[in-house]
Amino acid sequence: MGSGEQGADAGVAWKDGVIPVSTRFDDPYFSLADGLAETRHVFLAGNGLPDRLADGFHVAELGFGTGLNLLALLIAWTQTGRRGGLRYTSFEAYPLPATDIARALRHFPEAHAVAGPFLSQWDNAPAGGVKRIALAGIEAQVILGDARDTLPAWQGRADAWFLDGFSPAKNPELWSPEIMAEVGRHTAAGGSFATYTAAGHVRRSLEAAGFAVTRQAGHGRKRHMTTGTKV
Ligand SMILES: C[S@@+](CC[C@H](N)C(=O)[O-])C[C@H]1O[C@@H](n2cnc3c(N)ncnc32)[C@H](O)[C@@H]1O
Repeated sequence: MGSGEQGADAGVAWKDGVIPVSTRFDDPYFSLADGLAETRHVFLAGNGLPDRLADGFHVAELGFGTGLNLLALLIAWTQTGRRGGLRYTSFEAYPLPATDIARALRHFPEAHAVAGPFLSQWDNAPAGGVKRIALAGIEAQVILGDARDTLPAWQGRADAWFLDGFSPAKNPELWSPEIMAEVGRHTAAGGSFATYTAAGHVRRSLEAAGFAVTRQAGHGRKRHMTTGTKV
């Protein structure tokens, strides 16, 4: 661990001065190797994106963290040149302050270059309940609170899910059979999920939740990841 500086709300330390690590969960917010490349491999390609993206397409995420996944999606959507806009709903219990998010994103010049409008709205967005962020091409909302409470109450359905809690061993509450059942219940017909983990109990819970589940090659040194389509 680097200097051991602590963020106020979420509890962040900085590995090598650049990678945010949750002190609450003892796990990094993204891959130590190349977080942006991992996001593109796992969450975008794993959900068949950007090919499936179209006006009104709705992405949902468990664990907003630094917003890196949102920005990777924003870059991919912009590059398609397609018309209209996407919707993005993320669930986050311990929102990071914008200063920590900006510091984390500086590690990824491509994402940081498009992060301005997101960062300028983040701390100003009303803190209670839901933060709404309007980006060019994506209407995002981050639903604050424990996903075990907020996801069952959510009225929406996603076309694609990014399942991005901390590792199942360290953050089991975000990977429980109950939460995976809620993910299934909040997925549109033909919708999909992707996650970096290949944990057997997560795979089985997602099968029970109504997905046809596939194990795929993971990013970098991770051998496997998991994807699925609602059947
Ligand atoms: C691996 S990080 C997410 C990284 C993020 N997707 C990004 O692009 O930076 C996991 C996130 O899940 C959040 N989290 C953990 N348990 C949660 C819970 N029970 N409900 C909602 N969010 C939770 C953590 O606060 C953390 O921000």
